[in-house]
Amino acid sequence: MTTRTAIVTGAARGIGAGVAKRLAADGFAVAVLDLDEAAGRRVVEAIEREGGRALAVGADVGDESAVQAAVARVANGLGEPSVLVNNAGIIRDNLLFKMTVDDWDAVMSVHLRGAFLVSRAVQQYMVKAGWGRIVNLSSTSALGNRGQANYSAAKAGLQGFTKTLAIELGKFGVTVNAIAPGFIETDMTAATAERIGVPFEEFTKRAAEQIPVARTGRPEDIAHAVSFFVSEGAGFVSGQVLYVAGGPTA
Ligand code: NAI
Repeated sequence: MTTRTAIVTGAARGIGAGVAKRLAADGFAVAVLDLDEAAGRRVVEAIEREGGRALAVGADVGDESAVQAAVARVANGLGEPSVLVNNAGIIRDNLLFKMTVDDWDAVMSVHLRGAFLVSRAVQQYMVKAGWGRIVNLSSTSALGNRGQANYSAAKAGLQGFTKTLAIELGKFGVTVNAIAPGFIETDMTAATAERIGVPFEEFTKRAAEQIPVARTGRPEDIAHAVSFFVSEGAGFVSGQVLYVAGGPTA
């Protein structure tokens, strides 16, 4: 079988980097798409050291022409993409009364507009191949989280986006699912700890006390779930939201 190509957005670090490394180990050629192409190159080098194939591509997922150029670059340089993981994300947390329009728009632009633009650019290759897998990163915050009106709305929005794409693209052999992580140790959660003035170690310890499996998550925990959704055998699983949070969610 020829190698399939996967695009992972926001893959220069954190969950995205973990997903990119896992998909490369699973045998995919992986495009590490991120705002920060130089940081993406370090992930590519790590994949290549393990014998995988990867390409770093710099692009803002919220920028229509940059996305089109990036996806074309992947198709030409690595292979036509048939797997997409919409992982790029940012937080701009604040209580509603302090949230600015910029905080709102920035979060919508990366999570919702970004997932829309990259999915729209990639679906043509999936439809042509008669096979594809899209995985969107939602969050337990979709269920509501203080200080995250923008982020929780975007992450709940991604669940509706996932289900609609699953309905539209199913007949072309394309499945679309979402993963909603709980607390994962990355720069994003480290930034939250810093904002509220708690050392990261203390922050993760407190979080772990609330989690049934008694630990916080790691990028590899999410990468494992992505690996399942994009696998050959998962073709009858579509439009689902999998909470990966170390326990049941409300
Ligand atoms: P992170 O902040 O460590 O990494 C995010 C990556 O996305 C960075 O490399 C950044 O450069 C890239 N990025 C940001 N804006 C971009 C844009 N406009 N275009 C292209 N790339 C862009 O975040 P983390 O923790 O790895 O999160 C990954 C995804 O998982 C996000 O969608 C996040 O909302 C979601 N998530 C994370 C959780 C956590 O506990 N860390 C929990 C639930 C969901």
